[in-house]
Amino acid sequence: MSILLVIPNRNLDKLIAKFQNLLPNTTIEVWPNVKEPQEVEYIVAWQPPKGSLAPYTNCKAIASFGAGVDSILQYDGLPDVPITRIVDENLAKDMSRYVLTHILAYQHRLETYFKQQIKREWKPKRARAGNKVTILGAGQLGSACANLLHLNGFDVSVWSRTKKSLANVNCYGSDQLTDAIQDADYIVCLLPATKETTHFINHDFLAKAKEGVVLINVARGNIVEEQSLLKALSINHVAHAILDVFSVEPLPKSHAFWQHACVTITPHCSALSNVDTVTQQLCENYLRLMQNQPLLNVVNKDLGY
Ligand code: NAP
Ligand code: GLV
Repeated sequence: MSILLVIPNRNLDKLIAKFQNLLPNTTIEVWPNVKEPQEVEYIVAWQPPKGSLAPYTNCKAIASFGAGVDSILQYDGLPDVPITRIVDENLAKDMSRYVLTHILAYQHRLETYFKQQIKREWKPKRARAGNKVTILGAGQLGSACANLLHLNGFDVSVWSRTKKSLANVNCYGSDQLTDAIQDADYIVCLLPATKETTHFINHDFLAKAKEGVVLINVARGNIVEEQSLLKALSINHVAHAILDVFSVEPLPKSHAFWQHACVTITPHCSALSNVDTVTQQLCENYLRLMQNQPLLNVVNKDLGY
C-alpha cells in the first residue's frame, strides 16, 4: 500500500518529509518513477500530466493538493474513484485579504502614486467612488470574501448556481446574472473551472456589466475569454483588470496583458496552499480511506467541483 504524489515541476522534499512524519509506515512514491504501481492506493495530484493518473488500477481515491480540481478532472480515463479537495480557512483568509487589498489599492489609486513617486510628482486626487462588489461564486472562498468586504463597508452581492442566504449580502441565483452584475463597480470571479464556466466571462457577459467596471479574476484563467477582456479594456468598458490567473501559466512573455496600463498581474498567488494544513488534511483522508470511513471534502464529479 502506498501514496503516490503526482505533482510535477516542484521540489517535493518538504512535502515528503511531512507525509513520512505523519504516516511513518506508509510508502510514499513520487511520479514518474513509480516502483510498484499496483501498490498505489491513494494519489495526491496537482496539475497531473495527461494520462499520468490512469495506470493505478488499485487506486481508491485521488486528492487534489489545492482547492480546485479542474486540473485533475480535465482528462478522460481517470480511475472511477472519489476525488477530494482542500478546504482550508487560511486559504479563504488569504484570498479574502488579497481581494480586499486590491480593491482598496484601486480605490485609493496606489498604482498612480507609486508611479508619481518615481517621478517625484505631487498630484493628490480624491479616492475613486464606487462601493458595489459582486462576487461570482459563493462557495468557501466567495462567501469568505463577501464577509470581509462587508465588514469593510462594501455593498456586497454574490451570484451562484444555487441561491444562497448570507447575512448582510445580496444573494442571486444562476438565473439572475444581469441583476447581480449590472450595477457592480467590482466583479470578483471565484467560480470553479468547469465545462459550464469555460469562457463564461466573455463579450456578452462584459456587455451586461456597467461601464468602468473593475474585473478581478482569482479563480481560473480559462473562465475569462481573454480577447473579449482586451477589447473591453481598449474601449474602457472595463476600466481595470486585476488578474491572478491566466489561460496559460506562467503568462507568456509576449502576452498583451503584461504591457497593458489597465491590467494588474500577480502570478497565481492569491491563496497558496499551506503545506502543513494540506498534509494534515491529506493524511486524515488517507487514514479514513484505510478504515473505510467517509472521506472529507469529496467533490461532485458531475458538476466538476
Ligand atoms: P467552492 O466552495 O466549490 O464554490 C464554488 C462556487 O461557485 C459555489 O458557490 C458554486 O455554486 C458556484 N458555481 C459553480 N459553478 C457555477 C455555475 N456554473 N454558475 C454559477 N455558480 C457556479 O469553491 P471555492 O473553494 O470557493 O474555490 C473557488 C475556486 O477558486 C476554485 O475552484 C479554484 O479554481 C480557485 N482558487 C484559486 C486560488 C488562487 O490562488 N488563485 C486559490 C484557491 C482556489 P453552488 O454554491 O450553488 O454550488
Ligand atoms: C489554487 O489555485 C487552488 O486551487 O488551490
